[in-house]
Amino acid sequence: MSKSIQIKTELPGPKSRELVARREASMPAGYAKSTPLAVKRAHGAMVEDMDGNVLMDFTGGIGVLNVGHNAQAVVDAIKAQADELIHACGLVATTEPHVALAEKLCAITPISGHKKAMIQNTGAEAVETAILTARAATGRQAIITFEGGYHGRTLLTQSLTSKYALFKKGFGPFAPEIYRVPFPYVYRSGAVIDPKGFINSASLKLSDEQKMELTWESFERALIAQVMPEAVAAVIVEPVQGEGGFIPMPREFMRRLRETCTRYGIVMIVDEVQCGMARTGKLFAMQHYDIEPDIMVMAKSMGGGMPISAAVGRAELMDKIHLGGIGGTYSGNPVACASALAAIDTIEKENLCERAQYIGGIACDRMRQMQERFDIVGDVRGMGAMLAMEFVANRDTKQPLDPAKTVAIVQHAAANGVLMIRCGLYSNGIRFLFPLVITEDQLHEGMDVVEAAIASVV
Ligand SMILES: Cc1ncc(COP(=O)(O)O)c(C=O)c1O
Repeated sequence: MSKSIQIKTELPGPKSRELVARREASMPAGYAKSTPLAVKRAHGAMVEDMDGNVLMDFTGGIGVLNVGHNAQAVVDAIKAQADELIHACGLVATTEPHVALAEKLCAITPISGHKKAMIQNTGAEAVETAILTARAATGRQAIITFEGGYHGRTLLTQSLTSKYALFKKGFGPFAPEIYRVPFPYVYRSGAVIDPKGFINSASLKLSDEQKMELTWESFERALIAQVMPEAVAAVIVEPVQGEGGFIPMPREFMRRLRETCTRYGIVMIVDEVQCGMARTGKLFAMQHYDIEPDIMVMAKSMGGGMPISAAVGRAELMDKIHLGGIGGTYSGNPVACASALAAIDTIEKENLCERAQYIGGIACDRMRQMQERFDIVGDVRGMGAMLAMEFVANRDTKQPLDPAKTVAIVQHAAANGVLMIRCGLYSNGIRFLFPLVITEDQLHEGMDVVEAAIASVV
């Protein structure tokens, strides 16, 4: 069996090093990167660096490439649209790809009744639109968000985001009227952190159900202690937390959340920016819950690689923002819309939802084998092909592994041909977002590299 990874130089090679040095001289120091590699071209699950090395991409450009790098239909659609019209601005005139994409998104979003779609450029922008829509529709201001949540880097979305030291240090004051509640992170919920380290929630002998109940209790308490439900415009939730560590929300918690939103007239906003577009084995993760949100936010893999996002919701909500209160120079850019239409069509035609379940199963088996082999693999979790491993220094206490060791795993993998990124509130996880078109052989080859990378730190 011929290998897909082809390493011809040391990694990073001389040309990667040269370009990265130019990047560092010309871009701000705070702009991080998980590998020291510079990429020239890519196809499917593989990228070629500046030195001609062929590497495997387990990040999918952070969840953007479910259809694979440079999917042919996407490339063709971009070229054809660019030949005809690159930009018009939706605030000036109407274009066919923009309308066709809005219609398509309304058709596929799992919310019943008449829907409308506001198309924008980044996930953060679409999250902001969802929040502003909820405020305009309810006349309320408060927003409930979850610990571990990540919603973007604009001031409002950063205010909604967790993980202070990494994403927020030095940037305050943040937007007001945001209330943060614990997420049902059952691997850790109920854990007590004492000055000497972590006391395992297992030592408290709590079942996952009991931990979920405790977290739900905190939610209900927040509606008394922090804000009253009648003041809340929206709850925003990722069905599977992304940056927070690929943690699926338990079904029962989601059901109660929906029930609470309905009871108090709170807009339920679901952020599917990372978990949407077939990643979890269904087009949208919410389809695993059989629960309808009021507004769904999507981006990343929706565009096949082009920057595009959308907030799609019930028409009577989406129509609540006043005329002129919503827009943007590049919203609905025809080239990005054509690319998104081709990407969604590819997801459907190539049955990428089924593919996600199939290759997700293989990847999960490999991770569970690694969990048996290495004590530092504390948890393997996720949904479909949205999978992560959480590393711990001690399986009993669940004390997070030193983040430097997780960085070392990522670096070892990169030096041996696999691009990876970390995740998790404690920066002690690695997440798998390989293109869904990856072949089985490629997946095993990449997993071998990951396994060797973990072995290198134990
Ligand atoms: C769940 C979630 N929401 C929102 C965002 C923000 O998207 P963007 O980086 O396109 O602004 C991200 C980005 O990683 C995300 O994972």
